[in-house]
Formats: sequence, C-alpha cells, structure tokens
Amino acid sequence: MERTFIAIKPDGVQRAIVGEIIRRFESKGFTLVGLKLLQVSRELAEQHYGVHRERPFFASLVDFITSGPVVAMVWEGDGVIASARKLIGATNPLTAEPGTIRGDFGVSIGRNLIHGSDAPETAAQEIQLWFKDEELASWQPTITPWLYE
Ligand code: RTP
Ligand code: MG
Repeated sequence: MERTFIAIKPDGVQRAIVGEIIRRFESKGFTLVGLKLLQVSRELAEQHYGVHRERPFFASLVDFITSGPVVAMVWEGDGVIASARKLIGATNPLTAEPGTIRGDFGVSIGRNLIHGSDAPETAAQEIQLWFKDEELASWQPTITPWLYE
C-alpha cells in the first residue's frame, strides 16, 4: 500500500471545507492514517517548499502557508499518490477540472486550498518531515474486501 502526504492550506481551513475534503478522500476509498491541525513554522514551510526556493513566488508561498492553521494528513491506498493529485486537480484552480477540489472551490493559484505529494520520493520525504512515526496509525478498514479484490 502507498502513502501520501496531504495538507489543507490555511485558505481551506478558513473556507470551512476541511470536512468536505476529508469526505472526498474517504468516499474514494482511501484510508486516513495520520491527521493533525497545526500552525506551521517558517522553518517547516521553507523545508516543505524547498524545491521552489529560487522561484519568485517562494516568499509569498511561505507567508501564506504560515498565515493560519493547516490540516496535515497521511492517506493510504493503492495508487494513492497519483490518484490524490487527480482528486486535487491542476495547480491553478481556474483551469482545474470541475469535480476536482481546486476546480470546485478555488479561483486563484495562490489560494489553491490543498497540497498533495507529487511522487513516491516526495511523499516519503514529506511524511517524514511532517509526522513522527508514532503519529501514524497502521490499520485496516473492515470494508477492505469491498474495495480491493
Ligand atoms: P502543491 O505543491 O502546493 O501541492 O502545488 P502543486 O504541486 O500543484 O504546484 P507547485 O508547482 O508545487 O507549486 C507550489 C505552490 O506554489 C504556488 N504557486 N504559485 N504564482 C505562481 O506562478 C505560482 N506557481 C505556484 C501555488 O500555491 C502552488 O500550490
Ligand atoms: Mg507541488
């Protein structure tokens, strides 16, 4: 089973769509194995978005992600990394497909509501960066035989 790191950004928390976002991942059939709400430090934000350090939007991205509480999660399931990116939609909510989270709830690239790891390597790094081992639960939902053959 794969795991991915998902974060509801401060705009998603302020817009009160935390429950809606969690519902979409649950309904799809993925398993929640880690969940916390936290105020992100500058250090954590800069590490998380380190790949964008040289980009012109880096400073405003770090300001934004540290501007209010974030809901950090780890979700598990077959193919969850790529599938979560599809549920989330394109980076710019204006061009994200309707039916995706960004497509349904956003209008601006700097307020795109949610982050999802983009590959197995980044998923592993981000899970380690945001969660301690003991904050993650390994469990199998009893409905698993109805999700996987
Ligand atoms: P994320 O990492 O947050 O899941 O978003 P993503 O993979 O879809 O997009 P990425 O290229 O990793 O960009 C990270 C975040 O930076 C902001 N951004 N602003 N103004 C711009 O041109 C621009 N480009 C990116 C977005 O908030 C994006 O989510
Ligand atoms: Mg990204």
